Amino acid sequence: MSLPAEAVPPDPTVDAAAYRRAVGHFASGVTVCTSRVGGTDHAMTASAFTSVSLDPLLVLVCVDKEARFRDAVLESGTWAVSILPSTDRRAADWFAMKGRPLIGQMDRFPHHRGVTGAPLLDSAVAWLECRTQAVYDGGDHDIVLGAVLAAVEGDRDGVPLVHHRGRYGRFA
Ligand SMILES: Cc1cc2nc3c(=O)[nH]c(=O)nc-3n(C[C@H](O)[C@H](O)[C@H](O)COP(=O)(O)O)c2cc1C
Repeated sequence: MSLPAEAVPPDPTVDAAAYRRAVGHFASGVTVCTSRVGGTDHAMTASAFTSVSLDPLLVLVCVDKEARFRDAVLESGTWAVSILPSTDRRAADWFAMKGRPLIGQMDRFPHHRGVTGAPLLDSAVAWLECRTQAVYDGGDHDIVLGAVLAAVEGDRDGVPLVHHRGRYGRFA
């Protein structure tokens, strides 16, 4: 017999460190999410990106409420996702660096623009562009649900960057 959800007591051994260790075993890809607001490009490395629905086409990204990208993506209402290749750890590190200058942050990374005007990294294995459909409270993150406006595959043999237990890797 199972207990109703509200009757299941929280495990007192679960703290943030235990959670991080456990959830770190869930390997993910790495994206750079971008958005353009008033002529300024905003960007953020994000691995909390998920395909949600095929009909309609929906994806989500979880955005830290403290990240500068959060205000930008909420204001803009449109955003883009570049799925990084294993060869572009440099982009993952740069767009995760807190407080890096906003102006010129894209300069060292060749990019192009699609329907949303947000930058798409040329190096990516695939690109998506989205219009925000809903924003849900997710604790210290916002869950930004996006309707997919464009989806483009890059090099079909491109190898994605993988993030696992705090480290980058690639498929062997
Ligand atoms: C591999 C990796 C994955 C990350 N994934 C996310 C994510 O999914 N959501 C998020 O809000 N921050 C994520 N971050 C952290 C943000 O990239 C970082 O806090 C942000 O870019 C800081 O920039 P800011 O100073 O402009 O706020 C990730 C960082 C790394 C290195």
